[in-house]
Amino acid sequence: MHKQKILVVCLGNICRSPMAEGILKYLVKERGLIQSIELDSAGTGAYHIGSHPDIRAQEVCLSKGITLSHQARQVNRMDFDAFDYIVAMDTSNYDVLKKIAPHDRLYLMRAFDPLAQSDLNVPDPYYGGIQGFQEVYEMLYRSGNGLLDHIEKEKGETNVA
Ligand code: 4NP
Repeated sequence: MHKQKILVVCLGNICRSPMAEGILKYLVKERGLIQSIELDSAGTGAYHIGSHPDIRAQEVCLSKGITLSHQARQVNRMDFDAFDYIVAMDTSNYDVLKKIAPHDRLYLMRAFDPLAQSDLNVPDPYYGGIQGFQEVYEMLYRSGNGLLDHIEKEKGETNVA
């Protein structure tokens, strides 16, 4: 069976996208989808290559039972062939990705957040306090469930066809 591969992308790959990766892995496990969905994260920037997630991102996720174990890497052209879904955290990441290469399934993460209104950005929490990371966690949790609903629905439709 072809695994659906999801790449979540932010700027530094030390705050939002490793949190999204960890939360999505948790939700994938909860839904019994480990055999069919694979996850990774990357950054559009190169500032933090090799770094572990920001300690605040680790703490907020750990308080929810999620351990983050990613090391930052920069997105590259090969990712556009390797991944079925590429999901950007904000419109700036989205625009950078769009310039690298075309992709059929390039999305904004908060397009899947049922509580999002006109602003579809997951705000960068790096220069703020822990509360910003907690808010990001909640957005990513809601969006992660929405994204998995979307993928499961797409898969169901493909199977019927
Ligand atoms: P992230 O946050 O994109 O959510 O990983 C950032 C982390 C570091 C920097 C920017 C954003 N930085 O410029 O160092």
